[in-house]
Amino acid sequence: MTEDAPNRSPAGIVGGATLEEKAGLTSGLNFWFTKPLTRLGIPSIMLTDGPHGVRKQSEGGDHLGLADSIPATCFPPAVALGCSFDAALLERVGVALGSEARAEQVGVLLGPGINIKRSPLCGRNFEYLSEDPLLAGILGTSLVRGIQSQGVGASLKHFAANNQETDRMRVSADVDPRPLREIYLRAFQRVVEDARPWTVMCSYNRINGVYSSQNPWLLTGVLRGEWGFDGLVVSDWGAVADRVAAVAAGLDLEMPSSGGRTDQEIVDAVRSGALDETVLDTAAARVVDLVGRVASRADADATYNADDHHALAREAAAASVVLLQNERALLPLPLDVDVAVIGELARTPRYQGAGSSRINPTRIDTPLDEINALASGNVAFAAGYLLDGTADDALRTAAVDAAAGAEVAVLFLGLPSELESEGFDRPDLELPSEQRRLLDDVVAANPDTVVVLSNGGVVRVSGFAHKVPGIVEGFLLGQAGGGALADVLFGIVNPSGRLAETIPVRLEDTQSFTNFPGEHGHVRYGEGLFVGYRGFDARRQDVSFPFGHGLSYTTFEYGAAAVTAGDDLAVTVTVTNIGDRAGSEVVQVYVSLPSSAVSRAPRELKGFAKVFLEPGESREVRIAVRRSDLAYWDPRVDAWVVEGGLYTVEVGASSRDIRVTATAEVAGDAVNVPLTLESSIGEVLANPAAAEALSTIFVASGDRQAPALDPAVLAMAASMPIGRILSFGDFGIGEDEIQRLLDAANG
Ligand code: BGC
Repeated sequence: MTEDAPNRSPAGIVGGATLEEKAGLTSGLNFWFTKPLTRLGIPSIMLTDGPHGVRKQSEGGDHLGLADSIPATCFPPAVALGCSFDAALLERVGVALGSEARAEQVGVLLGPGINIKRSPLCGRNFEYLSEDPLLAGILGTSLVRGIQSQGVGASLKHFAANNQETDRMRVSADVDPRPLREIYLRAFQRVVEDARPWTVMCSYNRINGVYSSQNPWLLTGVLRGEWGFDGLVVSDWGAVADRVAAVAAGLDLEMPSSGGRTDQEIVDAVRSGALDETVLDTAAARVVDLVGRVASRADADATYNADDHHALAREAAAASVVLLQNERALLPLPLDVDVAVIGELARTPRYQGAGSSRINPTRIDTPLDEINALASGNVAFAAGYLLDGTADDALRTAAVDAAAGAEVAVLFLGLPSELESEGFDRPDLELPSEQRRLLDDVVAANPDTVVVLSNGGVVRVSGFAHKVPGIVEGFLLGQAGGGALADVLFGIVNPSGRLAETIPVRLEDTQSFTNFPGEHGHVRYGEGLFVGYRGFDARRQDVSFPFGHGLSYTTFEYGAAAVTAGDDLAVTVTVTNIGDRAGSEVVQVYVSLPSSAVSRAPRELKGFAKVFLEPGESREVRIAVRRSDLAYWDPRVDAWVVEGGLYTVEVGASSRDIRVTATAEVAGDAVNVPLTLESSIGEVLANPAAAEALSTIFVASGDRQAPALDPAVLAMAASMPIGRILSFGDFGIGEDEIQRLLDAANG
């Protein structure tokens, strides 16, 4: 901003702008920059990806914004960070991301992505945190807080229901109100309310037929009206189909640049009266406000320490690694082990996803180098397979020989980047067939084999989990992932990652299987609320590894749980490290309401805490469950409602490893659903005033109708709309009178 600009309000500045200038301010200059308005002292600011590193292109960007960018720390992508279950750690990562952005004069970092992993096939799952909205919401909040603490805006994306890549720029996510609110919008709501992101990025897709970019219900009613969002809504890049409709709906900034075409549409719409100029003024003022926030915090001399950030990337990666299986306590490996490291991915690691989030890392640690750096025993390496998937017998044979000659084989398998990326979904959950074949041969040569996985979306492990004693799930761990994996393998770090998404036995078991990715421009979210573990638990299906699962090199014991019900629930449990190594436990709190009158999952994550315990140490862990997190969305009244009743509170080490259970009586919210002639007799009887009036009618109508109050008859008639009783004879009462009784009961 120029010197006098900060003294004027955004609205005041916009008041001095012409119609053309306002239309210009609300769309991009080029791929990454907003338009300056020099006459009024408004500079241009840069927005850039995100989310797990700064992807700043040196020359302002190429046409598609995909060419190389300046070096930046590649932190673990969200798929791994979600598994850390560590809000404090994610805030530190956010701080580091923000400080790098600030040092590069980037005003807004385009992330985090907090969409729910509806299907394991989604090509962009590596950029998202979890299948669970509470986990995604809490961790997303931490990232935003960290980024913005550095004077850099975050852009919470992709708002909303962007849960697949297939046809992503057109597809309509057809979602019922409850899952939309309880699963797909809930994490966004939490981050908006708790962390106040400076910007929210609308998604490409449509929701129930309406593009997110031009959806007034979403962008204005829910986001601003209900959640109090006071920042700027930016479009995903190229998400605007109709700019006039978008601005009218609440979109403030179209990105990237349409070369002036849509600016002219806005000018024409205002001139013709199709768009109210005050709506444009509001959008322009929000752009000016954002530019002001960025400019007032910019620091041309800001720097960051790349070594410190690399160390943080290693710490974050190690905290995110999930030890899925560890039979015979094969891990951790002694430092002097004689080990065969097998797999091209050990030498050429896959550490991030492909597409708009691809970072140019400051350096890359490979697992092979890092194992070599720590090990004092013999380390043999064999590539075993080619990353392009072509069969190579010589490589396989050499790998089998290496495995046979070592005490332990550590076999690096995973998905090559060609198989998963932004822009398309995967067809299946399989590892490349060459790798599966290699695994069989290596295990046959050496039963002490540990598989280490690198993948952005989950892969099916049910084909081999029973064959190997050890499985380490690394997902994608960022530039320091090689060191983190070596740390975990040798026990320098005790693994503490927990699965943020279920690993199913088969793709066919996943709830969205029959409704993914949809057809003819529509995808029906037919599984409703039953996404991820909610669905597997409801159907009591076996899974390979459940949500929340992850092993440690030590053992944690849980004492009894106590719940105090106040406004929120306070859950306390004592956890003891009864092993001989220090380590972190992720204490998980799941809640359910067995007596619920509405459809619910058997358990839902409502709180968690990661606690570090020395050997023998005990700690009382206190986890607060917000009352608002107990609420379900009631479409009858379009509001969150806490149902009253005796809630079950399960505390455990995973969604399928519940250690202690307690209960809590929770008072419900009053729900006032007005009674109408269409209300059922059951609903009328549930309202004490109406029930009283109804029985008066029946009694007054004499013996003839008395059987209507008989419980057996009532059970049958309970679903009949009250107005319909008039079709069953003369009750001595007319429609008007019933309506009057209902009105009186409605108060
Ligand atoms: C992606 C966004 C990204 C933007 C800018 C889009 O294609 O969906 O996540 O921030 O490009 O690169």
